[in-house]
Amino acid sequence: AQTTITVAAGNNPADPVINKYIYSHFAEHLGRGIYGGFYVGDTSKIPNTNGVRNDVIAALKKMKIPSLRWPGGCFADTYHWKDGIGPKDKRPAIVNKWWGNAIEDNSFGTHDFLNMCELLGADPYMAGNVGSGSVQELADWVQYTTSDNKNPMSDLRRANGREKPWNVKFWGVGNEAWGCGGNMTPEYYVNEFRKYSTFMGNGNIFRVASGANVADYHWTETLMKGIPKGLIEGIALHSYSFVEWDKKGPATGFSEEQYFRTMKSALFMDSLIINHSKIMDKYDPNKKIALVVDEWGGWYDVEPNTNPGFLFQQNSMRDAMIAGATLNIFNNHADRVRMANLAQCINVLQSVILTDKDKMILTPTYHVMEMYNVHQDATLLPLTIKSDDYTFGTGKLPAISASASRDKNGVIHISLVNIDPNHVQKLALNLSGEKFKGVTGRVLASAKVGDYNSFAQPEKVKPEVFKGASVKGEVINISMPTASVVVLTLN
Ligand code: AHR
Repeated sequence: AQTTITVAAGNNPADPVINKYIYSHFAEHLGRGIYGGFYVGDTSKIPNTNGVRNDVIAALKKMKIPSLRWPGGCFADTYHWKDGIGPKDKRPAIVNKWWGNAIEDNSFGTHDFLNMCELLGADPYMAGNVGSGSVQELADWVQYTTSDNKNPMSDLRRANGREKPWNVKFWGVGNEAWGCGGNMTPEYYVNEFRKYSTFMGNGNIFRVASGANVADYHWTETLMKGIPKGLIEGIALHSYSFVEWDKKGPATGFSEEQYFRTMKSALFMDSLIINHSKIMDKYDPNKKIALVVDEWGGWYDVEPNTNPGFLFQQNSMRDAMIAGATLNIFNNHADRVRMANLAQCINVLQSVILTDKDKMILTPTYHVMEMYNVHQDATLLPLTIKSDDYTFGTGKLPAISASASRDKNGVIHISLVNIDPNHVQKLALNLSGEKFKGVTGRVLASAKVGDYNSFAQPEKVKPEVFKGASVKGEVINISMPTASVVVLTLN
């Protein structure tokens, strides 16, 4: 058998643009995500710019990070932003109650984050505190960061050394309001949202409601029904991939069964988006409100001998499979999914970067994000796929995942994932009459799906030139290695 993919390559005005923000990231005050990950302080021997590691800045710029969500996560609903402004030695220390009771000295605050976003060329996405904050506190934060007028908050910003406002468009109105954000019912949260959102203003601002936990469709329905159109621009969704919540298993050295079940849970994202979108379509048929998947990724047991509250895990080719397949799902739903944030950027959960003091490594997930950046702001080309199966025991999953786009220069890119760790897959790709001279590509593969980059072997997994594609008439024949990610460019 063979997988066949047909790409509708014509210029159809109805094809949506793949919003670059689908490729966004998330950085919480959690473990070594901020401290030691992004930020080492400006007195550190590790080369830095205003305390932010230069190696990290260069890597994230190369990957083309479009947006970064901060400061949480659960931490956001305990965070009082005024603790993190002004002279660093005057900032209060607090206990980070969600994450290992670590002492948070607030040395990385609003200015540090927003200036860092400018260095990265990434648009900030701030998560406001609804759980333990106040409407006034969040409205003040918006004014402090975005107002150019004369008012108490912009005056305070100027007094703290920043004359011009930053460009902060994206705001989360709380996080996981159904859980760590306050254990609210959706009916209660709707009213909270309406109140907060009203006082945040509606200028150049994009307000994201705290969204459903995985398949909680009642949550989405209640929000869509209860929040007036002019108050909301996006609604969130959180869904992680794991074997079982209470028995996650290791990040490396996992069994094939654990691999299969993780992939099954990752591919469930497609059904989730379809079902949440159906509800959204009922109330918002013109798709004005975006679905923002602002937490996704693989979640495993922490590495042995590390703080369980720090969520530090290695990152293997399994994570590359999750990233490649999930990003294809997001691309293919670009009409509704207009932002997504991988959890989390550095040293926490499914990271793109791991650091150890002055050392930094790029994970297989980083390489997928970097290879896929060709899709950012390109036009989606819908495709139909008849895939072979990857079978394990009595279970089966489609072996191949794919998405395609045409960029602003007219160049077509196709991203493919073969999640089958045991079989090379033969694919026939049909471009429905599109003229092209040849095809080039890059591949991310390794002998085993459990392979990963370590500080001892930082380049075990890295992209190579792909030689497995050949053109025959109008068809591209492809041979995909086991457990691999390929991105093709049509010339
Ligand atoms: O990403 C880790 C945690 O997972 C976040 O803080 C929270 O929003 C989610 O439950």
